[in-house]
Amino acid sequence: MALVNMRDMLGHAYHNGYAVGGFDLVSLDFLEAIIAAGEAQRAPLILSLAESHFDYYDFELATVAAELAAKRASIPVAIHLDHGASFDSAVKAINLGCNGVMVDASHQAFEDNVALTKKIVSMAHACGVPVEGELGYVAGVEGEDAEKHPGEVIYTSVDEAKTYVEQTGVDLLAVSIGTVHGRMKGEPVLDFERLQKINEALNIPLVIHGGTGLSDQQFHQLIENGVAKINYYTALADAAGNKMRENVSRDDRCGYTGIVDGIQDAMRAEIERCMVNWGSAGQADAVLAVAEAWQPVHHVIIFNVENCDDAQASNMMQQGEKLLSRVPGVRRVLTGNAVQTDAKYKFTWLVEFVHENVIESYRNHPAHVTFADNMFRPVAGDRISIDFRQN
Ligand code: 13P
Repeated sequence: MALVNMRDMLGHAYHNGYAVGGFDLVSLDFLEAIIAAGEAQRAPLILSLAESHFDYYDFELATVAAELAAKRASIPVAIHLDHGASFDSAVKAINLGCNGVMVDASHQAFEDNVALTKKIVSMAHACGVPVEGELGYVAGVEGEDAEKHPGEVIYTSVDEAKTYVEQTGVDLLAVSIGTVHGRMKGEPVLDFERLQKINEALNIPLVIHGGTGLSDQQFHQLIENGVAKINYYTALADAAGNKMRENVSRDDRCGYTGIVDGIQDAMRAEIERCMVNWGSAGQADAVLAVAEAWQPVHHVIIFNVENCDDAQASNMMQQGEKLLSRVPGVRRVLTGNAVQTDAKYKFTWLVEFVHENVIESYRNHPAHVTFADNMFRPVAGDRISIDFRQN
């Protein structure tokens, strides 16, 4: 079980002068390659799921696979929503198992970016989940030629960054200092002076988007100036694409498995190269020693009903399942009836929270307060509840 709190992971990277890769995945091949590279290099890593890629895979299925892979891993892993577009996206990602979320409101006016980010930070922190904000605009699209999607790069302003972090409470900040998403157009010129000033002003882990195409030396300079997380995708997609083209040119009748043969190894080699270059290789045990293990808490209630029959009790529980499963930080709500007819308690609720913090935020959430006060407590006076952590 090596799913860990991303805030602790990146705090360790920031204070020890290295950067963790936030590798975007779009298939199981990516997931397996990223985990295998981390295991080989004993490197902490972030499995990144970008909302802009949700047209290519089923987000819900992907989070299940990512979570299982993270739990099986012996290295520290976090699961992060990359470029989340809205408050609802952030809630959905947390409830599906992401333990880090990014709000990308960087294209909005400063005040609007602050307002949305602040709202997401308050919700996510109540679930124990750290938040990445973005200020300034990193142009381009992951996996594409940057010149096809030039957009307008807007550099992060030092003063605005200070105000933004103070007002929103984000845990990490993605900055725009000259990188672009996707393949670079020419030699990237990065504004290290600006980055140094931002780092001095903020003192929190910084994030670089558009990692593909930078030189080893540029990565070192980024890390020296506070970058603790590097987002990386296009180079992996290109490594896989090149391998597939090679497979097809060798045998143009090959089917699916023939086409994708070897792409995991091709991506893994590139990921391992990055881990060594960014200094995350060999840091797994040090991170495991300081990072909080990311563990759910189960909220269990066993109860009997009075003043209502079994059909009304069942209806009340069905409504509860629907309402409560939308509360931020709730993974799932299960209800049930005792198998034995002579059991001391006849009904049960099991609500899984993503983190211990949710015990309190769930209790105070308006949906829970309304349901508990109006529908549950009036009929379930005889009850026992417990919040427990798995051993
Ligand atoms: P690249 O695709 O340029 O590596 O950027 C990835 C990224 O920033 C994802 O958020």
